[in-house]
Amino acid sequence: MAVPQGAAIFFKMDSETKASWIAATEAFVKHTLAGAEAGHDWSHIARVRRLSLRLAEEEGADLLVAELAALLHDIDDPKFNGGDEEKGPRLARDFLLSLRLPKEVVEEVSDIIRHLSYRGGKNNQLNLGLAYAVVRDADRLDAMGAIGIARTFNYGGFKGRALYDPAIPPVTNLDPEAYARSTAPTLNHFYEKLLLLQAGMLTQSGRKLAQARHAYMQAFVDRFKAEWEGLDA
Ligand code: ADP
Ligand code: NI
Repeated sequence: MAVPQGAAIFFKMDSETKASWIAATEAFVKHTLAGAEAGHDWSHIARVRRLSLRLAEEEGADLLVAELAALLHDIDDPKFNGGDEEKGPRLARDFLLSLRLPKEVVEEVSDIIRHLSYRGGKNNQLNLGLAYAVVRDADRLDAMGAIGIARTFNYGGFKGRALYDPAIPPVTNLDPEAYARSTAPTLNHFYEKLLLLQAGMLTQSGRKLAQARHAYMQAFVDRFKAEWEGLDA
């Protein structure tokens, strides 16, 4: 009798503990992101979290690790902190250690965050496990489709970029520093990054969603250019 009862109590405590870790992390992230640019604010985190949980369910990844990594993945964007790639993962790690999470969970979450960014495709070969794959797919999916289009023009507006200039061709394979300095028109970003994301999906569920989001962006870009020239039907 004692064993199942003990196990039940342990399980209850365990799920309550997990819920309190998630709640504390959510509060920390909301506080940290207050005032962030709209393409990269709490709503981006909330979407990536929902999609990460969905993909994690479908793919059988660890839900706690996926949810924590989704919540913490953009707390310190190198685009806005002078290029420090280590600051975000370090902040996430220190925060999770302060919650007394198991060391393996803390290390897995901070490794996921460290290797999540696009970085000209440099991270494509890494094999960091299923939770990494679902969070990376979810983050990239949020840069695609209708939401991706909205975020991209929001970012371009934030940076004061032109919408489009047919005289300035897209440039692929710039190094990350040169890319960060680029002042190219926003439509170029579709060719330089967004239309390349579909090919890098790591999970079956991610690939399926990416297909539809990719087609939607491609149709948008084609129509945008036709309207620009006054050649739309
Ligand atoms: P993530 O959340 O995946 O880390 P990024 O930090 O790369 O995404 O970018 C955040 C949003 O800003 C994305 O929607 C992305 O398309 C957009 N963005 C990033 N760089 C540019 C750019 N040079 N021009 C237009 N949009 C950009
Ligand atoms: Ni992100």
